[in-house]
Amino acid sequence: MSVANTGEVSVQVVAETPFDAGERRAWAGRAAAYAAGFGRLCAYTVPRLLDAAGVTEGGRVLDAGTGTGTAAAAACARGARVTAVDAEPDMVRSAAAAAPAAAVHLATLPQLPFADGRFDAVVGNFVLNHVGRPRAALAELRRVTRPGGRIALTVWAAPPAPGQALLGRAVQAAGVPRPPDIPALAPEEDFPRTEQGLAELLRTAGGLTEVTCSAVSWEHRTTPEEWWHGPASGVATIGRVVTSQGPAATERIRRHFLELATEFTASDGQLVLPHTALLASGRVAA
Ligand SMILES: C[S@@+](CC[C@H](N)C(=O)[O-])C[C@H]1O[C@@H](n2cnc3c(N)ncnc32)[C@H](O)[C@@H]1O
Repeated sequence: MSVANTGEVSVQVVAETPFDAGERRAWAGRAAAYAAGFGRLCAYTVPRLLDAAGVTEGGRVLDAGTGTGTAAAAACARGARVTAVDAEPDMVRSAAAAAPAAAVHLATLPQLPFADGRFDAVVGNFVLNHVGRPRAALAELRRVTRPGGRIALTVWAAPPAPGQALLGRAVQAAGVPRPPDIPALAPEEDFPRTEQGLAELLRTAGGLTEVTCSAVSWEHRTTPEEWWHGPASGVATIGRVVTSQGPAATERIRRHFLELATEFTASDGQLVLPHTALLASGRVAA
């Protein structure tokens, strides 16, 4: 793993979990394919996320797991002084292009190359669900947030909303198993993907006060082609599963996907996919 040299603190590199290693493979070189599909989906929660973290003009903001930089760019547009990090070099390049006013670094949770209390607000849009040690990641996010500062995070709710379950159903219908090199999160690291479960995590592992968590539901409009492109390009865990057994299996999944997608197809041919995320926030004790 390489880390940014921000000149603030030296980061001691610890071994990554098998889950983290799987995540690195799932995102490597996939910024463009992510941006066109899942990235557009994830953008929906960004304004509320920034509100929940209290991102305003002049505030020092960290966007952790910035991906293609959607939240970082939106925070810059609010006049905030933005730093962003991601564990994947391709994402770092993409975020730097999307948010040229931000300082974008390669860095991997749960270790950030920033001094204690460095930020007024920290956001992570659909990142906590991609780290192998969510509790340690939260503790690190709290460390870099100043006393009185705010942290806001989103994760996907489970069980998933029907639109979010679509690709997984296609994989299942095609009889393609999850490959062994895509390990699940260790059970002792997991937490309930419910409003109560995420709020409790922020209170305990994050040590945050004034914690709130609510479900955010919306209908994502896309096309079958756009929705298939990301997974067929190997993006995220679902993409690694979709592409894990070669072109014939991928084609089998695609056929099931198109069949199941008719449940969500509007009269104009677009897919209307209901999704539900959890948005939680809290304050670092002053
Ligand atoms: C679902 S994407 C979300 C990206 C972005 N926040 C957005 O809203 O579009 C997850 C991102 O988290 C990054 N990521 C995964 N594990 C990470 C870790 N341990 N530390 C930092 N970034 C990580 C991935 O490289 C990927 O860019």
